[in-house]
Order: sequence, then structure tokens, then C-alpha cells
Amino acid sequence: MPLKIIPAKSIPAVADVVAMPFTTELGTPEMLRVLVAKDADALLAQGFAGRSDQVAITAGAKGRTLVYIGVGPRASVDPDRLRRFGAQASRAAKRSKHLAVDVRALFTDLNAPDRIAGAQALTEGLVLGSYRFVEFKSKPSKLTLTTAAVVVRGSDRISAAIAEGAAIGAAQNFARDLVNRPGGTLTPAALAEEARLIARREGLSIKVLGRAQIERMRLGGLLGVNRGSTQDPRFVEISYDPPAASVGTLALVGKGITFDSGGLSIKTGEGMMTMKMDMGGAAAVLGFFAAVRAVAPACRVVGYLPMTDNMSDGDAMRPGDVLTMRNGTTVEVLNTDAEGRLILADALCLASEAKPDAIVDLATLTGAVEIALGSRIAAVLGNDDTFRGEVEKAAVRAGERMWPLPLPADYRPYLDSDVADLRNISKGRGGGTITAGLFLKEFVADGIAWAHIDIAGTAWWAEGENAENSNGGTGYGVRLLLELARTFNPPRRTKTRARS
Ligand code: BES
Ligand code: ZN
Ligand code: ZN
Repeated sequence: MPLKIIPAKSIPAVADVVAMPFTTELGTPEMLRVLVAKDADALLAQGFAGRSDQVAITAGAKGRTLVYIGVGPRASVDPDRLRRFGAQASRAAKRSKHLAVDVRALFTDLNAPDRIAGAQALTEGLVLGSYRFVEFKSKPSKLTLTTAAVVVRGSDRISAAIAEGAAIGAAQNFARDLVNRPGGTLTPAALAEEARLIARREGLSIKVLGRAQIERMRLGGLLGVNRGSTQDPRFVEISYDPPAASVGTLALVGKGITFDSGGLSIKTGEGMMTMKMDMGGAAAVLGFFAAVRAVAPACRVVGYLPMTDNMSDGDAMRPGDVLTMRNGTTVEVLNTDAEGRLILADALCLASEAKPDAIVDLATLTGAVEIALGSRIAAVLGNDDTFRGEVEKAAVRAGERMWPLPLPADYRPYLDSDVADLRNISKGRGGGTITAGLFLKEFVADGIAWAHIDIAGTAWWAEGENAENSNGGTGYGVRLLLELARTFNPPRRTKTRARS
């Protein structure tokens, strides 16, 4: 059961854990004596002073547990810090049923916009910190947090921010579920079915193409990758129309490889252990649509999701095979493990044909991005520096990290093929994330602003439990896409070219 979030004006009687954020300003001995008279000595004895990530626990009345969580100096309390506080609070309460987070003292020190953004982020944190993937546990723990009350004074706008934060957190957790589901369970058909359920729930339009339609549409990249599989491919087009006249159209493309064995260019055993995550881009886009009504962007948003696994059955795509993509471009496949770009090529062609104002794709595309930036920072590349900058700013506001890489024109010849228009791997040695981006760029129509986010590092967490993450899928991308759509301003058609 997902965590139920309740906005409240006072601490509900049922709460068995109460968590409170303390800045260093509120954590001085004098302030503690004023704010929490009974507990001040116990807190001071534990050395608690409100420093970031300090946690002190005391016993309250009627068996209640009180959890004091330091958030550092007031000036450093931003939405990211409050999101982490929320996650820390729900982790601290994981063996209880009812949590209350009391932010009344802290919020009196924040101005109104910060309270609204803070309430949203802290609620996201509560939901993210309560996430567990238990679908395959035969005896899932019965001890789970069921409700979290956000205790705060104030307006309807705060309650609305709490509701929005709850929806966004749940959508990110939904993306995590999709990533965590094994490749043999979450087949392309099953992933498309999840898209259908979201569309029905959110009142969105959806088209699910099966093999015959994919053939009719000449999606040669998707069909090529699917050739080694016994599972039929799917192509999902899902769209949101705003209630009023839209301010433009944003296209979202997500890589939906439900399992990447590498195909005949097979991965090592180690290398494919986590390859159920290779639909992390599609999961982020579906997570976006799961919360789109709650966020209610003013633009139209259309998602394009190619789905297949990458396997090595008897008629699998062979190194050397040539594919003809949706737009007629031919591609010599020299490594069947560079499959993401093949299915994304067709999806970018279809997105381009609809002439949106901008396209953003998310893909677990290259191992190289993790070499370059690690597992906490995604790479962003694009054909329009201004739009790419907008994507970066939305990511900052949403608390998701990314850093730009260039698309230099003089690297493009690394993709020249002797027999076809393009080869699917670079002739050069390094820069794998860049050359993958240059490959994708070939399939974006001129004049459409496009940003590509390589999430191969960030879609998956393997460093052990922290406040917001457990091992497995992270749901990276959901929040930044929602924030981008919420504030979307169509880029001007005369494109500011990318520096390279
Ligand atoms: N799905 C992988 C990329 C990946 C690697 C995602 C590690 C998450 C973690 C992708 O399809 C792939 O195999 N890319 C190759 C490209 C190479 C053959 C040019 C890679 O990165 O090694
Ligand atoms: Zn691959
Ligand atoms: Zn892949």
C-alpha cells in the first residue's frame, strides 16, 4: 500500500512517531529550552544542535517517539534539503504505522514561496523515503508506515502543494517499480499494459502499436532489435491535452528496452545483471504521465515509447546487418549492444513528424556516462543551447542533477559507415556518450529544439540505502519532466544553434 499523506493543522492523536526539523538557529540551547522544554536536556545531552543530518530520538508521552532531525543553517534550507528531511523522517518511522512531521516551528522562519515549494518537496521526500520493492518477497514485512501527516499552519496553497508533492512522489515510486520489475515479467506487452492503465486513470489518449502496425510504420530500428526476441515489440504513443488552449507541445521519448542482453554482441554475466533497468527512460516518461493531472501543465505533452527486449534468438540481428530506419536513413549495425539508439531513432522520427515545439528524450544509453559523471549526475546534450539550458534549470528546481556535454560536429564522421549512411558505434575511442548523442541527432528534424538525457548512471542506485534511495531503480527523470512541462515555454523556431 502506498503511503497516505494527510495535511493537518495539529498532530493527529494516532501518530506514533513525530518528526521535527530543526535549523541550527532553532537548535541552540536557548531555543531548545523554549521550543521543547521537556526534551531540551535530553537533546543537549545527545549533542543535538540542528546540524544537517543530525538525528536525536526521545520518548514522548503515551509511547510516542519524537525524532528531531537537523537541517543545518536556515539559509541552507531549500526544497532539496526539505525533501531529504522528509525522506529521513519516513525512514525513521519505518517500523511504525502513523507518522506526523511537524514543520510549524521551521516554517514560521521561511517566507511564503519557500513554504509552498518546501511543503511540496518535503512531501515528495516522505513518499520517496517510504518506498520498498516487495513484489517478489514471499513474506513482505507487515510493519509498514501507512500514513504521514504533514503538520503545518496555513493556506490552501500549502495543502495543494502537499497534494502535488504526494502525487509526484508516488509517480516517481511507480517509475521505480517498473524499473525494478524483472525483464521476464515486465515484457514489452506488460509495459505497454502499464501505459494503458495510466492513460485510463489519468484520462489520457493512448495508441499501442503491435508488431503488424510497427511493420506498417516501417520502424526498422525497433524491428531490427526485436528480431532476436520471442516477445513481440510495442510502440506506445500517449498524450495529455491541457484543459485550456495549450501553450505549445512538448514531446517526450523514452528508451524502453525491457531487458538488454546485448544481443549477439552479448554482455558479460556481470554486465547484464542490472539490465532490467534498460527501460528507465520509458519508466520516467510513464511516471511523468502518472502525475500529469496533479501538476496540470498548460502545454500539450506527447510520449513516444518504443518497447522491446534485446535478445539473441536464432534470427537475431547480426553485426554487419543494415537497417532502414523510419526516415529512410540506413544504419550498419556493428554492435548489437548499441541497440538503444536504434529504437530511439524511429521514435525521434515519429516525434519529429508531429512537429512539436521541443523534444526531450531520456535513455539508459551508454555505460560511458557513468564513467564520465558517476551515478548521481546525468548527462544532457542537445541541438539548442537555450532549450538545453531550460531543461537544466527545470532539473535544478526539481532536485535532479545533470551536466551538459557537447555535440561537436567534427566527431560526426566517427559514425560514417562504409556500406550504409551511418554505423551504430563510433570509430573513435572515447566520448561514447557524445557519439551516441550525435547518432540520435541525425533523427531529429531540423528546427526542432531537442535535448537528450543519458540516464544510464542515474536510473539505478547500488550504493545502499540512503534517505531518498534504496538499491534498484531511482525513478530519475520523473520530477524534472513534470517541472519542465509545468513551466514550458515553446522555444523560438529559429533555433539558437548549439556551441560545439
Ligand atoms: N543499456 C546499455 C547502456 C547501459 C550500461 C545502461 C550500463 C546502464 C548501465 C546500452 O544499450 C549499451 O549496451 N551501450 C553500449 C554501447 C557501446 C556498444 C557503443 C555501452 O555503453 O557499452
Ligand atoms: Zn545495449
Ligand atoms: Zn541498452
